[in-house]
Amino acid sequence: MKEKKTQFASRLGVIAVMVGTAVGLGNIWRFPYEAGANGGAAFMLLNFVLVFLLGVPLICGEFIIGRGSGVNVRQAFARLGGKNRGWGLVGYIGIASSVLILSFYSVIAGWTIEYFVESITGFSGATTTVELHENFERFVSSDWRPVMWTWIFLGCNFLILIRGVQKGIERLSSIFMPVLFLLLIVFCIHSLMLPEAGEGLKFLFAPDFSCLTPKVVLSAMGQVFFSLSLGLGALITYASYFKQETPLVKTAAVTAILDLLIAILAGVIIFPAVFSFHQEPTAGPRLVFEVLPSIFVGMPYGQVWAALFFLLLFLASLTSTLSMFEIFVAYLEQEFGLSRFKAVSVNLLIALVLSALCSASFGTLSGFRIFGLTIFELFDNFTSNILLPIGGLLIALFVGWKLPKSLVMKELEKGTRLQGGAPGRSGSSFVNEAILLSLRYFAPLCILLIFLWGLLKP
Ligand code: TRP
Repeated sequence: MKEKKTQFASRLGVIAVMVGTAVGLGNIWRFPYEAGANGGAAFMLLNFVLVFLLGVPLICGEFIIGRGSGVNVRQAFARLGGKNRGWGLVGYIGIASSVLILSFYSVIAGWTIEYFVESITGFSGATTTVELHENFERFVSSDWRPVMWTWIFLGCNFLILIRGVQKGIERLSSIFMPVLFLLLIVFCIHSLMLPEAGEGLKFLFAPDFSCLTPKVVLSAMGQVFFSLSLGLGALITYASYFKQETPLVKTAAVTAILDLLIAILAGVIIFPAVFSFHQEPTAGPRLVFEVLPSIFVGMPYGQVWAALFFLLLFLASLTSTLSMFEIFVAYLEQEFGLSRFKAVSVNLLIALVLSALCSASFGTLSGFRIFGLTIFELFDNFTSNILLPIGGLLIALFVGWKLPKSLVMKELEKGTRLQGGAPGRSGSSFVNEAILLSLRYFAPLCILLIFLWGLLKP
């Protein structure tokens, strides 16, 4: 098999791509409603702690496998797993989950395009919460409109991906991520000037620890996983394009901090608005699609704000789905020698079919249920509650116990001052040890908890 030479071009590009995959619907759509439903500040604080204890070590774990092997997720486990062929199967879990996640995630990303358009046209004249709810229901259950937007969204992915890793993914992320960040800051300033901003900030920043039930703890862990794109090899695939001098721990930390910061910014945007317009922070997944428009329509220049907000959500989703595509694309290219164009096309075709099924499960296929779940819910639950935690658990165990400690440490030290030097008691060698410790004990235990909860959840 010919060695793949694809690499990201610059340090800044790597950060843009990493933040691009991490920041998405998970931060701007999922985080606010999860935080809203789980007590606000206490949830956020917990999220903060878990990002560092669990998130950063697991990102490093995926990076080590990716750069250590330099190949796609399937071959990475096979190559580093040595004689034990079983590890090779782990890659397949990642590939399968990436296709499933892509299918349902694209449906919601498609909704953001509809809502961008509706913002400009005025939400079909709906202004009250009830009307906006009906408008939302009518849209998601209609036959062709949501599928059309989902396919257009997938088409955008296609056009970027065929340009390649550097010219497509890296270049686009390098342009979009700063734009996204600027838009977020503008929204924040706007939100902070609202009359009841203080109430919203209190909800987000003044923790009430009586809210910390086991369910909240476990939801926070699930959120960390999803938001950091962990568990199915997206980061393994991207890290296989890292240069040898890319410092892994620093890159992981910057990614995690920016991801967290952007989730907090999303909270600062949404909760002051929710409180100022007397809405419920606990509205759940509808929060962004029903509650926000009702807020926007009551604002001066509301249409412009709404359109900008959904544009922002669209951009954030797009840079995330690129990473889901890349997992399977890299595998097809390297395992079967397909051209990039063909590999992306194969993935696109599968995604077109599966995403249409997910979309139809809000309408025509809403009665079609497996284990009592619609196709959309099945894909969502099966990946978030089962495949992601299993993938994450296996990744932690693989790096913590299967890989030689020398390889793990060597990868963590590359590009830092520790490299090649005497193993002194410096700050970064302490951090590296802590990462290994988390991968060995803390991360597997945490993941096991999420997993059991996901299975036992009613
Ligand atoms: N992290 C992204 C978000 O917050 C979603 C995502 C992208 C993802 N790639 C992933 C989630 C891989 C799990 C696995 O929206």
